[in-house]
Amino acid sequence: MGSLTVRNIGEDVKQRLRMRAAANGRSMEEEVRLLLADGAAEAVTPAEPSTGKRNTPVRPETAARRVLLVISGGIAAYKSLDLIRRLRERGFALRVVMTKAAQEFVTPLSVGAIAGERAFTDLFDQSSEFDVGHIRLARDTDLVVVAPATADLMARMASGHADDLATAVLLATDKTILLAPAMNPAMWAHPATQRNLKRLLADGVITVGPNAGEMAESGEAGVGRMAEPMEVVGRIEALLGQSSKPLTGRRMVVTAGPTHEPIDPVRYIANRSSGKQGYAIARAAAAAGAEVTLVSGPVTLPDPPGVRTVRIETARDMLRAVEAALPSDIGVFAAAVADWRVAAAGEQKLKKDAGGPPNLSLTENPDILATVARLKSNRPKLVVGFAAETEKVIEHAKAKLKRKGCDWIVANDVSAEGGAMGGDDNAVHLVTAAGVESWPAQSKDAVATNLVARIAAAFGKESR
Ligand code: CTP
Repeated sequence: MGSLTVRNIGEDVKQRLRMRAAANGRSMEEEVRLLLADGAAEAVTPAEPSTGKRNTPVRPETAARRVLLVISGGIAAYKSLDLIRRLRERGFALRVVMTKAAQEFVTPLSVGAIAGERAFTDLFDQSSEFDVGHIRLARDTDLVVVAPATADLMARMASGHADDLATAVLLATDKTILLAPAMNPAMWAHPATQRNLKRLLADGVITVGPNAGEMAESGEAGVGRMAEPMEVVGRIEALLGQSSKPLTGRRMVVTAGPTHEPIDPVRYIANRSSGKQGYAIARAAAAAGAEVTLVSGPVTLPDPPGVRTVRIETARDMLRAVEAALPSDIGVFAAAVADWRVAAAGEQKLKKDAGGPPNLSLTENPDILATVARLKSNRPKLVVGFAAETEKVIEHAKAKLKRKGCDWIVANDVSAEGGAMGGDDNAVHLVTAAGVESWPAQSKDAVATNLVARIAAAFGKESR
């Protein structure tokens, strides 16, 4: 069919089409052709007549992944130009919204030129409201990325403001929001920003960075630098992997919980680990498509759905179960393994009247992480350890990375003030050969999602 005539189009629709075509620098016919192509790509699939199932809109596998980028006003806005370029190189379909303050740092013209489509700036701009409208901007995307996210924008998001295009879109969207915060370290550390961040994380917002390092202002250093554009791209790719399950086909072994080391048949040495973090990682990895074996010490948590859970008691049992789960692509060792066990555990219950307190001689348990990280064959491609520290967290974690021979260490503060042991929140630092990333305090589920996204990004890079 070469041509199609459509009659009875209302004046109002014609006017919108005219404005849309003019805004995009296209003829009306070309504009309609593109709209029809878009519409056809998103068309519903026919239901099987006999099942009576509802038609479900299907985005074809080949459709470009769509990102709506919101740029807010900080010095780091210059990095967003590089981010746009790199996303376009990778075939993402991009739309960009800029706040008023962002336009003080980069112009809509330069953003539009790099993005290949004009940047949207005004909530009450007739042409853009007719053209797309803030609700369509918010919804016709697969992911919303805010980079850089300033302290002010985060505060306005946390309070649900909608008084400009950026905040209106962020409030109206039903898609995942990825924030790349960037601000002065004092602003980042301020209790108000941390409070807002906590609310945003509780609302389901995901963050990338900020990183530690030199700031654009001379003499300022600390946590507050926007994540590098490639790091943001990695997170976007992981979140929007070709399939929504970026770890499909990958095998992963996760250890979790404490181990119990018997003193006699009724007594044991243990620690306060709840297993929550390891279980959250196993769940998140399974949700990302990985085939997960969770080797768990004694905890009160239920088996995560879709995960093969192997329950063990002692460190030696844990090592055996981990070895049986190899080969695996990824190993994540979140268990709080007892370092020592009683050299000769009593076969019978030790009696109090047997001549004073028993002399328990301890012997070292196998180090599961170090054993797996140093395997000559069957070593997982990515070995991730945890470091539970009560002081000098980063320094000790860096030393542990080397000592154990693993690729990444997730370091957390398990001092009483840190509250990670047994609690629901965790503030961690991701230590890799490339450096240290300090993640804001967030739920153990959010740490798990972020870690799995990082793992997926690492594997995404490898397969390119
Ligand atoms: N780990 C392990 N097997 C052990 C001890 C620790 O697999 N026998 C793993 C943990 O699962 C974690 C990492 O090693 O991923 C670090 O655990 P941590 O308790 O912080 O370190 P330790 O090696 O016990 O060092 P230290 O107690 O001296 O800090």
